[in-house]
Amino acid sequence: MSDSRDAPELEAILKDPGFCRHSTPHTAVVDWDAETGWSEPRIESWTDLAMNPATLGLHYGQAVFEGLKAFRAADGSVHLFRPEDHGRRLARSAARLAMAEMPPALFVRACAELVAADRAWVPGGHGQSLYLRPLLIATEADLGLRPSRRYRCVILAYPADPCFGADFRPLSVTTATETVRAVRGGTGESKCAGNYAAGLLTRTEAQAAGYDEVLWLDGIGRSRIEELSTMNLFLVWRDGDGVRVTTPPCDGTIVRGLTRDSLLTLARDRGIAAAEEHTTIDAVRDGLRSGRLAEVFACGTAGVVVPVGRLGIGAEDLTVGDGGEGPMTAALRGSLLDVQHGRVPDAHGWLRPV
Ligand code: COI
Repeated sequence: MSDSRDAPELEAILKDPGFCRHSTPHTAVVDWDAETGWSEPRIESWTDLAMNPATLGLHYGQAVFEGLKAFRAADGSVHLFRPEDHGRRLARSAARLAMAEMPPALFVRACAELVAADRAWVPGGHGQSLYLRPLLIATEADLGLRPSRRYRCVILAYPADPCFGADFRPLSVTTATETVRAVRGGTGESKCAGNYAAGLLTRTEAQAAGYDEVLWLDGIGRSRIEELSTMNLFLVWRDGDGVRVTTPPCDGTIVRGLTRDSLLTLARDRGIAAAEEHTTIDAVRDGLRSGRLAEVFACGTAGVVVPVGRLGIGAEDLTVGDGGEGPMTAALRGSLLDVQHGRVPDAHGWLRPV
């Protein structure tokens, strides 16, 4: 990756960035050492990480990450979306893995300095963003099983379209029947590298069978729906004349999605009943058959809000609604993107100017 791009090349990248195909020239780096604590952020040229092969983070999985975004508004201004909340979530993930907890204010400063350095790389198209990927990894070399006494946080940045495509086409999802992603008391809610590895085999098999994603069920009874490998899940119920939106609660086994949280808030702002509640896969099947379950959508920082058009449950493949995008899914994505792109007032204080 070269350190600089000439203007026409950068313009072409920003027009059609894909998802994380092109990194920006810089990274932000913050180190922690048991003796000296956290360093100040450094903006460095993108470079490979040099690591001792006995590094604790590589062997015992002390590695957590975040995904957050910077947006460009129509007036050219640039802001981060909910960076403090992402910093808090990173610290929570780190704490669960006995890693050093980076103060959220330091995290925000490092993200903002990187966005400022690579400001020209923030695209402005609808749904586009500069996707930041902060990684926190143990860097001390030792094969004794214990928490590392050194960590590095390195923040990467990429101009990006939504990860499942800029057109938000409906996804095909199948339910995991043989494997589980998380159990109560485990690390399910942490954005740790191992959680994503644990789901890869099933996800790869699902993709070979023609699905985009896997819907994980709870790890004990395998009866309640949890989330997808990359996104949280919402259900849109038609109750008589009313519409109700539900999503599984965050009780330790699903990622505490900030897109999920934003959508709950935005739905309530619009006067829509929105609840965090458990739903069994049997209730989902019954709802789809009867038509009471009108829409299903997935949401996450990278994917934004994407309809689910087809859901495989056991041997049965069910179409959600007419298989296309429903009005609630489109409306909530519109509300979120309006805030993220600065098209409406920032009523909840989610934007941090850079
Ligand atoms: C994100 O949405 O930012 C994530 O971290 C999910 C990732 C697997 C693409």
